[in-house]
Amino acid sequence: MENITDMIDTMRYYHGVGLAAPQIGIPKRILVLEVNNNVRYPLAGAIELDVLINPEITEFSKETDAGWEGCLSVPGLRGKINRASQITFEAYNDKGEFYSSSVEGFHARIIQHELDHLNGILFPQRLDDFQLFGFEDSLPDYQ
Ligand code: NI
Repeated sequence: MENITDMIDTMRYYHGVGLAAPQIGIPKRILVLEVNNNVRYPLAGAIELDVLINPEITEFSKETDAGWEGCLSVPGLRGKINRASQITFEAYNDKGEFYSSSVEGFHARIIQHELDHLNGILFPQRLDDFQLFGFEDSLPDYQ
């Protein structure tokens, strides 16, 4: 599907680890994500390219992790955000097959961040501590 190809190309071009369709003007509930030696998240382990259509998170762990996030829609800024450490989600893949999966850590963080985009929420709205928000240059330990 052309929309999905555009999303993957855009994510890779801007060195993102995820992208939601509305970020590039596509009014659909689609997310893509991929981590592969990412320059913006050099410490993150690899995550294979994944396409989530109509994703829903069905379970959030009570346990949370704080981690730095950035966003192609909020260029140059980072914030430390608390997210559920583990989630279970359901979605359709790019072949139209329904599936469910549980993921944790950075993978769970990306899906929570991208799914927020589908609901019009950007990561700064999730900040608990505005001291942990700013331009990358002013946050020496943001990685
Ligand atoms: Ni984003």
